[in-house]
Amino acid sequence: MPTYESLKQQDPDIFNAVAGEMQRQVEGVELIPSENYISAAVMETMASVFNNKYSEGYPGRRYYGGQTYTDIVESLAIDRAKRLFKAGHANVQPHAGAPANLAAYFALLEPGDTVLGMDLSHGGHLTHGHPVTYVTKIFNFVRYKMKDIETGEIDYDEMREVALREKPKIILAGFSAYPRELDYAKMNAIAEEVGAYAVADMAHIAGLIAGHAARNPFDDGFDVILTTTHKTLRGPRGGMILSREAKLGKKIDKSVFPGFQGGPIMQMVAAKAVAFAEALKPEFKDYARQIIVNAKHMAAKFMDSGAKLITNGTDNHLFMIDCVKSWDITGQEAEELFDGVGITLNKNVIADDPRKPLDPSGVRLGTPAVTTRGMKEQEMDQLADFMLSAVSKRDDKAALEAQHEDVKTFCRKFPVPGVS
Ligand SMILES: Cc1ncc(COP(=O)(O)O)c(C=O)c1O
Repeated sequence: MPTYESLKQQDPDIFNAVAGEMQRQVEGVELIPSENYISAAVMETMASVFNNKYSEGYPGRRYYGGQTYTDIVESLAIDRAKRLFKAGHANVQPHAGAPANLAAYFALLEPGDTVLGMDLSHGGHLTHGHPVTYVTKIFNFVRYKMKDIETGEIDYDEMREVALREKPKIILAGFSAYPRELDYAKMNAIAEEVGAYAVADMAHIAGLIAGHAARNPFDDGFDVILTTTHKTLRGPRGGMILSREAKLGKKIDKSVFPGFQGGPIMQMVAAKAVAFAEALKPEFKDYARQIIVNAKHMAAKFMDSGAKLITNGTDNHLFMIDCVKSWDITGQEAEELFDGVGITLNKNVIADDPRKPLDPSGVRLGTPAVTTRGMKEQEMDQLADFMLSAVSKRDDKAALEAQHEDVKTFCRKFPVPGVS
C-alpha cells in the first residue's frame, strides 16, 4: 500500500481521507460499471513531474519551450491509441469525456445543427443532449429509442425515418446505461443516406473494443469515436477523440485546443500512454472477455432468483435491475442497502421509468472493476448471493452488519492493483 509519508506529515486531514478511501476500495466491492482500478504504473505516472509543465499546442507545435519530453509522451499516447482502435487520428488531450464530446460537436457541427442520439431514459448520456446541459442551447437533439424494452432491440426503421425527417448532421451511437450491442453497420448506412457523420461515444465500452470483446464501430465505417479513458479502458481519468480518417484530425485538434481547452494535463496524457500500452498486451483481451463473461453470469444468477432485468440480460459489461418489480424497493433504497454491506453500485432510471431520476426504479451494475481484481464466475455467484441475502434481511440490522464483515473478508482475498 502506498504510504504517502510527505502528505501524512504536511496535511493530516487530506492524508486521512486518502487512507480512508484506500481502505474503502480494498474492503468494498465496486460494481459501478464506469469505475475501475488503474495499475501502479499508471498511478505513478499521474503523480509525475509532468504536472509542472505547460504544453499548449501539439507535439512539434507548442506555444512554450521545454517540450522534449512532453512531445515524447504525447506522441506515444497518440500512436498507441491509433493502434488500439485502428484510428487514422487521435487527440488525447480532452480533460474528460464531457469536454471531448463538446469539442467533437463543435468540430463537426454549426450552431443549430441536429444530432440524433439515444434517448436518455433508454440509456443515452447527459452529454447526448439532456435539457439540463448548455449544449442544448446551441445544437438541436432528437432521439431514437428501443423498439422492445424486453430485448433491448433498437428501432432502426424509426431511426431512419427520424433521420430522413430531421436531417441530423451527427448520428450518435453510445450509451451509459444500455446492456446490448448496437448495430453500427445499420446506423452508418443511415448516416450515409442522410449525409451525417457517424459518431460513437464509446466511453463505457472502449476497453471491450480495445480488447476485441466488442465490435469496433470503425470496422462498420463510423467516422469518429469519442471516449473516456478511465472506465473499461482502465486508464487515468480523461477523454479522447479518434477519427477513422486522418483528414478529420485537423478540425478535431483545433476544436480541442484552442477551441475548448488551454494546456493539456500532461501527466494524464503520459498516464494514458501507459494505460494504452497495457491495453495493447495480449492479457488485456482476457480481461475484456472476462468482463462480459462475468456480467452475463451475474445477470443470469439474478434472473434465476426471479429479479427483473432491463432487456432481460446483457451483452456487455453492465446490466440494470428493476428494483421495484424485483424486490418492491426503490433504486435509492437498493443503493443504500448494498452500500451498507460494502457493495457499491448506483441507482438508475430504467426505460420509461415512472419514477424521477433522483429517485428512480432501478440500479445499474457492472463488472469491470471486480474483473480487474481477478474475480471470475464463482465470485459473481458469491456477489449476487451477498446482494440477494441483503435484500431478504433488509430489516435485520444485526444480520446486515454481519454480512458487511463477510464482504470485507471476501474482498481482502482480491488485491486492488496499486493499493493492496
Ligand atoms: C457515454 C458517456 N459519455 C461521456 C461521459 C462523460 O465522461 P466524464 O465524466 O469523463 O466527463 C460518460 C460518463 O459517464 C459516459 O458514460
